[in-house]
Amino acid sequence: MLRPLLARDRGPLATLLRSVENFGEAEVEVALELIDEVIARGPATSYRALVALGDDEDEPLLGYVCFGATPMTETTFDLYWIVVDPRARGRGVAGVLCAALEHHVRDAGGKNIRVETSSQDEYTAATRFYRRQGFEECGRIPDFYRIGEDLLTFVKRV
Ligand SMILES: CC(C)(COP(=O)(O)OP(=O)(O)OC[C@H]1O[C@@H](n2cnc3c(N)ncnc32)[C@H](O)[C@@H]1OP(=O)(O)O)[C@@H](O)C(=O)NCCC(=O)NCCS
Repeated sequence: MLRPLLARDRGPLATLLRSVENFGEAEVEVALELIDEVIARGPATSYRALVALGDDEDEPLLGYVCFGATPMTETTFDLYWIVVDPRARGRGVAGVLCAALEHHVRDAGGKNIRVETSSQDEYTAATRFYRRQGFEECGRIPDFYRIGEDLLTFVKRV
């Protein structure tokens, strides 16, 4: 089941973010900044976030997606973060989150979803997931994050 992110999700999401093997403190901090913005400003912010829950209410959050209309564009949205609990991977949770994001973008008249990621091996699961979801690589900036770690940009037309 999916629902919009609520203030009470902050603690569990912080724990989830810290359990992600390819995230360091900087990623966790920036992801939490966006979560805090959604909690503090609700519909007044351009950020949106959905959480995925299991069937059992006592089960921890399975994952979440954070996205938003890209500033200074009329038709583009950014997928900022998509994260699934390592114990819940490979069973379609991210696929369901991504489908809901696309539904939202279509409803809002959006035409493109952009996502940026790293070329590092640790992000292979993410880039494979994006390609499977129909995202296409449309840009690469070499040595963006540091020497040998490129920025990859993917886009999906919806
Ligand atoms: C990327 C990420 C979100 C994918 O989450 P996920 O829930 O495992 O994704 P899905 O289950 O929808 O898809 C993953 C794979 O499982 C497969 N799958 C989906 N449903 C399935 C099912 N019911 N049975 C078997 N396999 C299934 C998919 O085909 C997919 O295969 P692929 O890896 O070859 O593309 C997850 O790996 C993650 O949280 N990574 C760390 C955070 C991160 O890097 N996020 C991206 C940057 S913000």
